[in-house]
Formats: sequence, C-alpha cells, structure tokens
Amino acid sequence: MEPIGILYGDLSPTVVNCSISGKIRQGDYVKIKHQEVGWVLAKVDSIEAKTNLSIEKSYQVMEGNSVDIQQSISSKLVVIGYRDERNLMQFPRTPFMAGTPVYQAEDDFIGSVLNLGRNKRGRAYIGLVYGHNIPFTIDINSMVQKHISVLAKTGGGKSYLTGVIVEELMKNDVTVVILDPHGEYAAMGNKASPSREMTRFGVEPRSYKDKIIVFSADGGDVPLRFTLSQINVKELISIMNLSDSRTYVVPLRKAVDAVRLSMPEYTFDDIITELKKQDDSSLSQALEKELRYLKSLKIFDKRGLRIDEIVKNGKVSIIEMKGLPPDVQELVVQRLVYSLFESRKKEKIPPLLMVVEEAHNFAPQQGKAFSSKIMRTVASEGRKFGFGLLVVSQRPAKIDKNVLSQCGTQIILKVTNPNDLKAIGNSVEGLTTTSLDEIQRLPIGVALAASPELPIPLFVEVRPRETDDGGKNVRVVR
Ligand SMILES: Nc1ncnc2c1ncn2[C@@H]1O[C@H](COP(=O)(O)OP(=O)(O)OP(=O)(O)O)[C@@H](O)[C@H]1O
Ligand SMILES: [Mg+2]
Repeated sequence: MEPIGILYGDLSPTVVNCSISGKIRQGDYVKIKHQEVGWVLAKVDSIEAKTNLSIEKSYQVMEGNSVDIQQSISSKLVVIGYRDERNLMQFPRTPFMAGTPVYQAEDDFIGSVLNLGRNKRGRAYIGLVYGHNIPFTIDINSMVQKHISVLAKTGGGKSYLTGVIVEELMKNDVTVVILDPHGEYAAMGNKASPSREMTRFGVEPRSYKDKIIVFSADGGDVPLRFTLSQINVKELISIMNLSDSRTYVVPLRKAVDAVRLSMPEYTFDDIITELKKQDDSSLSQALEKELRYLKSLKIFDKRGLRIDEIVKNGKVSIIEMKGLPPDVQELVVQRLVYSLFESRKKEKIPPLLMVVEEAHNFAPQQGKAFSSKIMRTVASEGRKFGFGLLVVSQRPAKIDKNVLSQCGTQIILKVTNPNDLKAIGNSVEGLTTTSLDEIQRLPIGVALAASPELPIPLFVEVRPRETDDGGKNVRVVR
C-alpha cells in the first residue's frame, strides 16, 4: 500500500502535520503506525496548498509568460485514537515520529476503532459514515437515557432523519410518543417507494401501520381530548384572544365556579349557559365567543384521554396538533408531558422516548411557554426514570439551554445562521472550526453526529426512509 503522505514539523500525540503526496481530501480517515502502540486512526481535519507564486508573478502568468510554480500540499491530522486490548479507546501518550508514513484507512479499521457496533442488537441504524461503507449506529438505551437532539435549518432534513430514528425504535419495540405540530408523522404508516439508494444502504420499503396510533383533535385513529375541568380559569383566559384579558378573569371565574358546584366534569356549553346568567353582558358576550372558538377546536372536553390510553407498550403514539393555535399547543404539550412524566415516575407506563418537534416553541430560551418548566424537568430528570427526549429544532439558539445541554447525542444537519452555529459550537464537544465550517455546506442527507460513545463527531450519510416521509416540499410552480 502506498503512503499518502509523511509526518513532518511539530508533532504531538493528538495533532500532527502531514505532507500530502497521494489522493486525500478533507474529512478522510487515515492511519499512522505509532512506534509504541501500533496503528492509530486519524482524520484529515484541514488541508492546504502552499505555493511560491507571489502576486507579482501571477501577473506574469496572466500575460502568458511561463513561470515556475512550486506547490506543496500539507494537512493537519486530528488523531482519533486506537483500541487497546480491552477494546477501550486510547490515545498514544508520546508524540509520533517525524518521517512516519501515513496511509488511507480501510473501512474495517475505521469501523473497529470507532466501534460503531455493526449489526448489533439494540442499536439504531442511521446511515453510513460519509464516504465509506461503514454502517453508523447509535445505542438505543443511551439515546433514551441521555436524550438526543436533531438540529438543522428549515428544510435541512430533521423530520426525515427523525423518521429514520423512529423506524429503528419501532424495530426494537421501543415505546415512543411524538409531539407532531405539523401532522407529518402519520405517513410512517405507509411504505416508501423503492429506490436505488435503498439498495446501497441495505433497506427496504416497509409499513409500520400496526405500530402506530395517531391521535388528533380532528380525525386520526383516536380523537385527542383533554379534560376541560383540569384547565384552570387563568389558563383558559390566556389561550383566548382577548385584548384586556384581566377584566375577564372575574366573570369567567364566577361562571366556572358555579358550574363546578353542580358538576365535577363539564363542557364549554355548560360554562356558556352559566355565563348567560351574569349581569355584564358585554363581557360575557366576548367570553362566549372565545369559548365557542375553543369548543370548535374539539381538544378540550368533558372527559379527556387517560395516559394509559395514549401510551401503549412498544407502540408509537403520534400526537397531531395541526390546526391548533400555538398557545393551545403549548398548553396541550404541558398537560400531556406532565402526565406522561408523573405516570412514568410511578411506572404506570413503560420507559419511552418522546419526540418534540419544533422544540424551540415548547422549551424556548427566551420568554416562557406553558410547557417550559415541564420540558426542563424532563430534560434534567428524565434519565432517572427512563423518559428520553428527542429534541428537534430549526433554531438551536432559541431552545432553552437547560434542555439542549442535556442531550448526550447530537445530530446536526445543515445550519447557516451564525447564532445557531454558535449555539451548536457551545453545546457540542470536540467540534473543530473546520467541522463548524462544514456544517454550513452540508448537502441534504448528510449529518454530523456527536455522542459520548464517539471519540470525535462523525459525518454520516442518512439512510433512506423505509416509510413515507410526510415532510415533502410543497411545489408552488409545476
Ligand atoms: N436523507 C434524505 N434523503 C432524501 N431526501 C431527504 C433527506 N432528508 C430530507 N429530505 C427531503 O428534504 C425535504 C426537507 O426535509 P425535512 O422535511 O425533513 O426538513 P426539516 O428540517 O424537517 O424542515 P422543517 O424545518 O421545515 O420542518 C423533504 O422533502 C425531504 O423529503
Ligand atoms: Mg420538519
């Protein structure tokens, strides 16, 4: 095997310079024989051509004169490490030697050092290490115990990738709850159309219809309902569209208190009937209009679903919130997540992973959502109880840092917003400036994955979906 370059200059056990003579690109994996520990895996972090062509001489080139140009290519290699006899990840503890040849690493060697757990049970197959035929998998237990985030700009492929993860969870009979504000996930009941890409990745179209239960206020397999009597007056007022909302608290409270006296469970109609008996008709008219609107959403009713009617062992419960106004969605999420967490603590429901799409809305960094507090609680305490979070967002900078920082595994697709890149740089360990730069230019379908299991963040080509993906782009012009 021909070396692709030679180590030169200042050398440490973790970063080395390498002159490049063979074919090598940024991001490639290479191997170097260390004098004490044997073969060590490294990655080409950056690559640079140094030339002796000055600006003055470049004008001579422009004029058509022949100029002798000397060019040398050098690269910075970041040492990943090697596996010791107990299969633990290690770094050499003495510097490499100058003059040592560097070789392209074979897939088997890369796979064995990164320990990606090919075909092992309990691991989610996400795709292939970018540019290689090495399956990339994530340990499902650690995903549920340590949370995971999927971040990218809009249209970056977050929902597609989340669907891939959920497919793997379904294969492993993991219980999942998906908070789905856009109604994208029910499509997982249908098979994707076969494609050539599927063969390359070794996947086949598959339907998971028997694994999925869709809950929706309007349609779905089961109507999504919450108990109205559990929503207090202040919460009701804050999801109403009233200008001077404080003036409405007293009349609404009077009506609700009166209803409560005669019945423990009630509907919006019961409150409206009571309101009509009140003196201040202008206030009650405005309230009545809002109550009728809330009633039309069908989400709050006399009797809501019990948590054991929503969560089923080994199934995926999709909570569709399409069509519900943002503040109602927040309230729904707050109610649901609170009950899920309490039920999980009492072991009334199995360990589960909860997918939170548009997480910046339900756990915002600035301002407050109804669901802010419970999301923070689940992020910090969920792991103790087997309640995992999969946080999805297009605005990493806008998610509560207390939630984002709890995610052990982070998967990042294309991101270009400088604030979001900064938030990612701050929350992902081991990201080099080169990888942050690369995140801005990632093609659709390529992700950067970082987790405590991995010695360095890895670029991964996401595998095709087995199921239909509901997030298809809307065409304006055909
Ligand atoms: N790995 C992939 N392979 C093929 N197509 C993909 C892949 N990832 C995403 N797409 C396609 O790209 C488009 C956008 O993907 P997706 O809906 O997942 O983006 P998103 O990040 O969730 O966007 P949004 O922020 O708007 O929710 C979709 O049409 C999807 O089918
Ligand atoms: Mg999406």
